Amino acid sequence: MSYADVYAAWKADPQGWWMEEAGRTDWQTPPATALSEDGRLWFPDGITNTCHNAVDRHVAAGRGDQAAIIWDSPVTGRKETISYADLKDRCARLAGALAARGVGLGDRVVIYMPMVPEALVAMLACTRIGAIHSVVFGGFAAHELATRIDDARPRAVIAGSCGIEPGRVVAYKPLLDGAIERAAHKPEFCIILQRDALAADLVEGRDVEWHAAQEGVTPAPCVWVRGDHPCYILYTSGTTGAPKGVVRPTGGHIVALNWSMRAVYGVAPGEVFWAASDVGWVVGHSYICYAPLFHGNTTVMFEGKPVGTPDPGAFWRVIAEHGVASFFTAPTAFRAIRKDDPRAEHLAGHDMSRLRALYLAGERADPDTIDWARKVLGVPVYDHWWQTESGFPMVGNPAGIEALPVKVGSPTVALPGWDVRVLDDQGAERPAGELGAIALRLPLPPGSLPTLWNAEERFASAYLDRFPGYYNTGDAGMVDEDGYLWIMARTDDVINVAGHRLSTGLMEEVLASHPDVAECAVVGVADALKGQLPMGFVTLQKGTETGEEEIRAQIVALVRERIGPVAAFKLVTVVDRLPKTRSGKILRRSMVQIADGAEVKMPATIDDPAILDEIALKVRDLGYPKS
Ligand code: COA
Ligand code: AMP
Repeated sequence: MSYADVYAAWKADPQGWWMEEAGRTDWQTPPATALSEDGRLWFPDGITNTCHNAVDRHVAAGRGDQAAIIWDSPVTGRKETISYADLKDRCARLAGALAARGVGLGDRVVIYMPMVPEALVAMLACTRIGAIHSVVFGGFAAHELATRIDDARPRAVIAGSCGIEPGRVVAYKPLLDGAIERAAHKPEFCIILQRDALAADLVEGRDVEWHAAQEGVTPAPCVWVRGDHPCYILYTSGTTGAPKGVVRPTGGHIVALNWSMRAVYGVAPGEVFWAASDVGWVVGHSYICYAPLFHGNTTVMFEGKPVGTPDPGAFWRVIAEHGVASFFTAPTAFRAIRKDDPRAEHLAGHDMSRLRALYLAGERADPDTIDWARKVLGVPVYDHWWQTESGFPMVGNPAGIEALPVKVGSPTVALPGWDVRVLDDQGAERPAGELGAIALRLPLPPGSLPTLWNAEERFASAYLDRFPGYYNTGDAGMVDEDGYLWIMARTDDVINVAGHRLSTGLMEEVLASHPDVAECAVVGVADALKGQLPMGFVTLQKGTETGEEEIRAQIVALVRERIGPVAAFKLVTVVDRLPKTRSGKILRRSMVQIADGAEVKMPATIDDPAILDEIALKVRDLGYPKS
């Protein structure tokens, strides 16, 4: 069947189409209902279990000896292969340890771990007993962890003692202790994985070591849950400082992710799949952990960086050594490799013959990077577009169905499940080739979010209210006459730094909390390596005696301390005034245009155009525009 036939079949009968796809999931009781009446929840009355579909079913089907996880950690010099049978035992034991301490159906468990296989075991163990996990990325600081603990209200936390970044060990445990101290909600207990690089001090009566927690416990069987039972909550950045808890229900998640492995990533069960991301992001949830395991693949988990661990050949070594068939990463990683090794000399000696395709997502894939990757790897490079909320690709090249011609710079076409439209401000559809807000006609497919955790109103205001009958993605772009989508920009204050989605609103809250800051703005400016970098502008309170240099250093340190190193906030300048409209709205776009060296379109409503000259001078002191 061609892509056009498959898309048409889905569009003609979305519920029937997904119901048929649901036949590939193992259910204790198959669903009678495809979609709930409110159009939010898929397979609500089907009874199933995530861990069973990811692990146990494969053992039962004879894949017990197949590698489920290959862990490759150049930062520790260690590697480990875990079979499906072994993974089942590990999940059952940890699930038993959680259950023995009272964790059960619907309880939340926060996971704060580095890129070690125990992170996947922790996620799967939670789903095994119907507990809802919420993984927090290790690059977030105590304050951000505390915010998530207060929103998710976990019964337990599972954490690693440390993470390992090139050149430094990041002590996770003090961050966890600090977060629990700040949070109003207190988890009952913490399970701590002690790593060789740095052991953590345990809090008596609250913390229990990973192995000790599992000693003597009865391994837990899978607990059958309803299809609409939340599998996990994953917090992501929005316009305001408070993160949004994206809810992922169980049934649709299994069905949609399983489908994507075949139709988008074009792999067969048993093949090796690698997503070079982090478990803290949606890519890590969907394509390091769940999808490859649902589909009976071997997933590679890499604890390292594209460069410097030890060199820009690390990705090639992993692909060759483990026989990766399909590879997924963010364009930033390729920009980093290309910068260090423009002629790809580190490819020499690596057998890349089993690699069939490279998939890029998480940020805009610039044509230069795509061309370079295609040239050096000699395989198709597929850009694809999705977000935390969608859980799996919305627009991509359906290579597993039919590889469509690549138009460099476009993530290709809408995939079955997604009715992608480009709308004007009034919600009317834009003609082909014209820019607008990218929206999705409701209902959303299985695997996508039905709501935000504890925030139904915010769900409506963030996604549904803007265009009735549609989900507003927050991205702007156009669809061309061949039906290819082009993503141009965000329509909100979210920026994308090295494939990491960050909120400038959150950074502004931190800047504003500095006692000497009167007003502030944070914008995303173009960066050749990371795509975007945050740049802050502050005005100072009258009578401030601290010097500008010192204030700037304090602000940089404050963002690192409050949000974490992942914010990559290093650029900040002190200005006399911020450019504003006559009604007082800060002209962030003009500041971005100045820093990017783009044509500055002077807004008609600007209060005082001379302020832009001062901004230009200050930005030049920071080394911008770059070219
Ligand atoms: N725990 C603690 N700190 C972390 C961390 C983690 N899990 N992940 C990143 N950090 C820190 C980094 O050490 C760095 O700290 P520094 O300011 O002291 O140097 C900071 O957060 C910023 O990290 P990052 O943006 O990753 O920059 P980098 O300079 O370390 O690496 C790249 C640059 C391009 C190599 C890296 O961003 C990369 O591999 N990107 C791939 C994109 C990706 O995987 N995206 C995920 C979504 S698909
Ligand atoms: P996240 O939720 O962290 O996955 O970030 C999702 C956002 O990243 C999207 O809404 C886009 O703004 C951006 N994004 C993801 N994939 C792409 C892509 N292929 N091209 C352009 N932008 C992308």
